[in-house]
Amino acid sequence: MKINNTSINKNNVGEVVSLYGWVNKKRDLGGLIFIDLRDRSGIVQLVVDPESDVYELASTLKNEYVIEVSGKVVLRKEANKNLQTGDIEIEVQGLTILNKSDELPFDLNNTTALEETRLKYRYLDLRRNELKHNLIIRHKTVQSVRNYLNSLDFMEIETPILCKSTPEGARDYLVPSRVNKGSFYALPQSPQLFKQLLMMSGMEKYYQIAKCFRDEDLRADRQPEFTQIDMEMSFATEDDIIKVTEGLLYNVFKEVKGIEIKLPISRMTYDDAINLYGSDKPDLRFNNQICDITNCFDNCDFTLFNSIINEGGIINCLVFNCADKYSRKDIDKLTEYVKNYGAKALAFLKYNGEFSGSIAKFVNESVAKNLIETLNLKENDLVLIIAGNKRMVKNALGSLRCKVAKDMDIIDKSKYAFTWVTDFPMFEYSEEEKRYVSCHHPFTKPKDVNTLNDKENAKAYAYDIVINGYEAGGGSLRIYDPYEQEKVLNALGFSNEAAEKQFGFLLNALKYGCPPHGGLALGLERLIMILCGTENIRDVIAFPKTTSGSCLMTDAPSEVSQKQLDELHIKLG
Ligand code: AMO
Repeated sequence: MKINNTSINKNNVGEVVSLYGWVNKKRDLGGLIFIDLRDRSGIVQLVVDPESDVYELASTLKNEYVIEVSGKVVLRKEANKNLQTGDIEIEVQGLTILNKSDELPFDLNNTTALEETRLKYRYLDLRRNELKHNLIIRHKTVQSVRNYLNSLDFMEIETPILCKSTPEGARDYLVPSRVNKGSFYALPQSPQLFKQLLMMSGMEKYYQIAKCFRDEDLRADRQPEFTQIDMEMSFATEDDIIKVTEGLLYNVFKEVKGIEIKLPISRMTYDDAINLYGSDKPDLRFNNQICDITNCFDNCDFTLFNSIINEGGIINCLVFNCADKYSRKDIDKLTEYVKNYGAKALAFLKYNGEFSGSIAKFVNESVAKNLIETLNLKENDLVLIIAGNKRMVKNALGSLRCKVAKDMDIIDKSKYAFTWVTDFPMFEYSEEEKRYVSCHHPFTKPKDVNTLNDKENAKAYAYDIVINGYEAGGGSLRIYDPYEQEKVLNALGFSNEAAEKQFGFLLNALKYGCPPHGGLALGLERLIMILCGTENIRDVIAFPKTTSGSCLMTDAPSEVSQKQLDELHIKLG
């Protein structure tokens, strides 16, 4: 079997070795020819002497030719400290060209090619170190996860890909059935119901590295087809599930990155996360919490603020110590930014012993005193203020918090900031559907089944693990009582008949001795993004889709033949 090029070192000096790989670079200095031979493990330098039998053949080599060489390992006169094999080189004695290569569409060693080009030639892009490194991290992570969960007696069980369509939040990908005319399978958004059914089967501890499919609007951290580290446990409390997940993350960070994370991971409630950070996935690599300054404006004659307060609204702000960095024009840009989140305006104050800024004229002595005390203001502080209804204010300031931190480059990229966000609401209002939907999913256990009518305030045993502002995973305790499940489905607007049609198999299974159970799923790609330090989910997937859901390499999705459509009883409109 082929050996790794980088396994050769000083200890092999004098030996004759056989190596395989790609010509990464060739330098023909008129006399000696130097070749960087690349394989998955890295690079080793080959030298071809003009006296050698294979000199002529070597001079025809071009980048990305695939070759086999044999040669003697010798010490280099001057070591190359940047290369793992930098102490040695191979004096080539035998050379075979196994395959030639056309000129590549982009330079692998220094690519400025557009992502579209790189996606079209993904197999070439994957030859680059950066992407290869990400796939190696992914591989190591999955191995670490499997070892850890196996050691805790979890069982890896696969669940179906062709499933029944059940509402879980996103839109389903549908697969028409040829045999059952007019019927469709759905690809799983997650193995949620199957893993619960496995608990009812007595499997007790399940995991799966599971493929999931969601037809939703794509973003930098979302793909239509992604992977979950999916877990479920019977007879488990929320603390048990949190502890298993923490152990998993500890092991992965230690084995893959050599970093020991501090356990236990801190926890905050959903309500605190929204109040302080305006997000259910707060980035805790920087502080800059949202502050409530509604009361600071009690004695002020700013009619706009007064009327917002009278209507039950709030005034909140963020403070950044960078007033000198923001011109009026810069603030105008931030104003445009927060308008995307429903804010009508962004007021600002700069503090330098006294106040200046868009609402400075309303800052009388009493307001000034209140603000300085409440916000503990220092020289050069910039106060960014939004007033209005609570939901909008928190959401807009939460996004602004991250934007300003990014613009000001105050995020310590070498840091990993973990937090649990707990006590999620049972329901959230969907503007699209104009009704309350499950915040997590319809099988999540409410904290109190008697509070289901209070849709705004009912809370669930649901929790997310957040890393560096990413929702890395989420889970919940599940309903295991058929009556409670029915109540929750009713609260979500399912009649008993509709519930029976959609989830009859689950409701039935709940009647035959269902153990209390709960679980969690980590987004594998999100975790790898964090471990690799990339903000682009495509960087951690071998063959990803674009934001419009297509594969530029294979051209999927594509049209199919009329014959295929006919077989599936499908007529295109
Ligand atoms: P949830 O929907 O929160 O929970 O998903 C779990 C985790 O999966 C990741 N994720 C995604 N990653 C990439 N692209 C996507 N489109 C995408 N959607 C989700 C996120 C998320 O935290 N069945 C439940 C889990 C449970 O309750 O046990 C579920 O799927 O990191």
